[in-house]
Amino acid sequence: MDTMTQIAALTAETIQNLWPEAEGLPTAEDLRSLLAVPPDPALGDYAFPCFRLAKPLRMAPPKIAEAVCAAWAHADVASVQPVNGYMNFFLNRENFAAQTMAALQAAGDRFGSSDIGKGKTVCLDYSSINIAKRFHIGHLSTTMIGHSLKRIYDFLGYTTVGINHLGDWGTQFGKMICAYKKWGVKEEVERDGVDAMTRLYVRFHEEAEKDPSLEDEGRAWFKKIEDGDPEAMEIFTWFKDVTLKDAAKVYDKLGVSFDSYAGESFYNDKMEPVIQELRDKNLLVQSQGAWVVDLEEDNMPPCLILKSDGATIYATRDLAAAVYRQNTYHFDKCLYVVAYQQDLHFRQVFRVLEKMGYPWAKGCVHVSFGMVSFDGAALKTRTGNVVLLEDLLDQAVAKAREIIEEKSPNLENKDEVARQVGIGAVVYTDLSNNRIKDIDFRWERALNFDGESGPYVQYTHARCCSLLRKAESLAGVTPDWSALTDDEAQALLRLLSRFPDVVLDAADKYEPSMITRAVTDIAQAFNKYYYEHRILDGEPAQAAARVALADATRRVIKTGLYLIGIEAPERM
Ligand code: ARG
Repeated sequence: MDTMTQIAALTAETIQNLWPEAEGLPTAEDLRSLLAVPPDPALGDYAFPCFRLAKPLRMAPPKIAEAVCAAWAHADVASVQPVNGYMNFFLNRENFAAQTMAALQAAGDRFGSSDIGKGKTVCLDYSSINIAKRFHIGHLSTTMIGHSLKRIYDFLGYTTVGINHLGDWGTQFGKMICAYKKWGVKEEVERDGVDAMTRLYVRFHEEAEKDPSLEDEGRAWFKKIEDGDPEAMEIFTWFKDVTLKDAAKVYDKLGVSFDSYAGESFYNDKMEPVIQELRDKNLLVQSQGAWVVDLEEDNMPPCLILKSDGATIYATRDLAAAVYRQNTYHFDKCLYVVAYQQDLHFRQVFRVLEKMGYPWAKGCVHVSFGMVSFDGAALKTRTGNVVLLEDLLDQAVAKAREIIEEKSPNLENKDEVARQVGIGAVVYTDLSNNRIKDIDFRWERALNFDGESGPYVQYTHARCCSLLRKAESLAGVTPDWSALTDDEAQALLRLLSRFPDVVLDAADKYEPSMITRAVTDIAQAFNKYYYEHRILDGEPAQAAARVALADATRRVIKTGLYLIGIEAPERM
């Protein structure tokens, strides 16, 4: 039980004992949610406002505060003072340190983990790139938010399924095959990958301006893919392999992987039953030749299911995908990590699933996010003005390498550390704000070792590791927790003790940035502690306590960074 919960429970008990007859008193849980951290530390570590008790007790809040404080008999947990209708709690610092350190040490690297997700499954649809297109910076958020949420849910005991819902369906692939048959060179596609495919696509449109009959040829090739013609399928599958090979380079750099690559084309033969079901449930209506589900009652435009030529669309595939995922994985939640531009699309799809009578539709969530913009001048691009993620990551590593060369010329594995720091800087930036906020990426900020940045947090972790290497002589000494009663140690302990709540909250709100915030606060609190106290000096039992605090800090930072997809080098 954490300290706030403990104080809330003891306060509830004290009130209950004072007024056993009173009705409508707040529960321990209510009390916990009312406990606040006072802005001025002189007013205590926590404060409880007694106003909520005035009505059930028919007493003025200052009187209540006085009575409860007088009856409070838990000095081992906290002392308490009544001030203007508030109960101000001052933690028993030694006790708090001992309790928190015991919890941290018992959990080791798993501090904050839990089994609340046991037996529950979460599907996560993220990254979901498009075939024959390059990874650009816009794909970073879906990839990293999804990857982080997957780790967070795993950490909380859920079974997770990571799905890359590939955009591998559409008439453009017919055009691309047509262009390849006419002007393509196998070696070029093999050498340049997606870039070569893009050139073919551009050429197709240029030539089609002059010769419109090409459009028909393109359509004919698309029809061939639909019919499973062997030649068309062979080229299409090859395009797909080449794109995925390109993407794998980026995924490797980011340390991201998936359990399934079932994309849009995977649902080719799984839509018919869903369409039939929509018909059977009288949900399909005809509108201007097309078949749609009417959503007027829900104040939304109709959800298009079949175009007038009978072709299925993006939404049809998403309906089939949701049904398939439910039948295959029996998910409790299915998260779609997709940019906010697709808000309406997902609201429509989820509503249609509800109308079909699927109660599990409630578990489908669109985890949307804002845009990443970039101070473009700083980054040269190979093709026009889209910033390619691979280039961005490579530049980040190169820049990190320069800084490390300057700061730590004697470091052994500089290349490896530069990789961890460069990638970490980019990922940290991406996950540093509420996901719905737009991000303005700037190198100075991302790679500022002293500011709020990935490298800063990583550096703090390395600093803890270095301290521990110097503390070997203290191994086996029993720590004296009374060494951790100063302001700085207490502030750090308080942040560490809250980490498990942060993880739960981040999962609840689908918000990895809460973990980014927590590890940054912890790093700042540790550095403050580090500057104010000589950790290794003095009484061995006291030094051992301070070293144990550094060790716990190291573990929590490492765990937090892991949960947002960032590595933690031991030396920097
Ligand atoms: N490929 C799509 C895009 O890049 C994203 C797919 C998201 N997932 C889904 N099930 N619709 O816009």
